[in-house]
Amino acid sequence: MTSSTTPRLVTTPGELRAALKEAGRVGLVPTMGYLHEGHARLIGRARTECDTVVVSVFVNPRQFGPREDLSRYPRDLTRDLGVAGAAGADLIFHPDVDVMYPPGYATNVSVGGVSGPLEGASRPGHFDGVATVVLKLLNLVGPERAYFGEKDWQQLAVVRRMVRDLNVPVEIVGVPTVREDSGLALSSRNSYLTPEERERAGVLSRALRAVQAAAERGERDTALLLQAGLDVLAGEPGVSLDYLAVVDGDMAERARVDNDSMTRVLVAARMFGVRLIDNLPLLPEQTGDGDGA
Ligand code: PAJ
Repeated sequence: MTSSTTPRLVTTPGELRAALKEAGRVGLVPTMGYLHEGHARLIGRARTECDTVVVSVFVNPRQFGPREDLSRYPRDLTRDLGVAGAAGADLIFHPDVDVMYPPGYATNVSVGGVSGPLEGASRPGHFDGVATVVLKLLNLVGPERAYFGEKDWQQLAVVRRMVRDLNVPVEIVGVPTVREDSGLALSSRNSYLTPEERERAGVLSRALRAVQAAAERGERDTALLLQAGLDVLAGEPGVSLDYLAVVDGDMAERARVDNDSMTRVLVAARMFGVRLIDNLPLLPEQTGDGDGA
């Protein structure tokens, strides 16, 4: 299938199956829409590696907590078709909620271990919702490869764990984070922020870089590494910190860190009423999955 500027829109599993007959190597990019340059990077990567690129656009209610932003989550399908098409998507799968979760739906996918700390602790049930919808999408599309952003590092770890544990025949590809000039990681939720707030939110990535810098100087004591980041965050009154943590590949915190390529520093904070997350490899030359930056 060749890429065109306007991708084909399908909304049901039947249409999807028909459209994917003789599709060759299929790449899937799962999204919740309101696409930005970060999503476009995933789609572009899939374009270079696959014959047919499917982008799912589905705001998945099961991964939102009762007090989270499901009802106000930004949506603009027309714009998404344009962004996805320009980045190289062939097909957009945009199902209704009751197509994904019809009456009587009763199954939940729960990944242990890596789902527990950090985002898992702050957002109970979130990763069950993510794992459930991602497995459904993988089953519906049957891609050879599926693309996820490193921006959601723990989500990537949860998806990798699920695919290994359940023998899902797909290769998971992690793609480096795309950022604004301020350093702020692109996110659909950044649309809740004013330009000035987005500038100030760059402090999160500066804090992560300060932790990196301490690691590069040879610091291996986790408490001292984190202090370097906390000092930066203390300079921005708008930050209400949820966590700043250095973790290994299993998302476990250790008192001291080694040079393991999976060591990562992660941050979550509320700024200007919006919950923001970001992460970096502890040592900048590491990308965690050997993809290159
Ligand atoms: P969403 O937030 O729309 O993100 C879709 C994909 O884009 C995820 O893999 C995410 O990590 C990636 N992404 C987001 N911002 C990025 C950035 N600045 N740079 C690089 N990649 C970025 O994550 C979800 O949706 C959902 O949880 C989903 C996996 C679709 C399941 O519902």
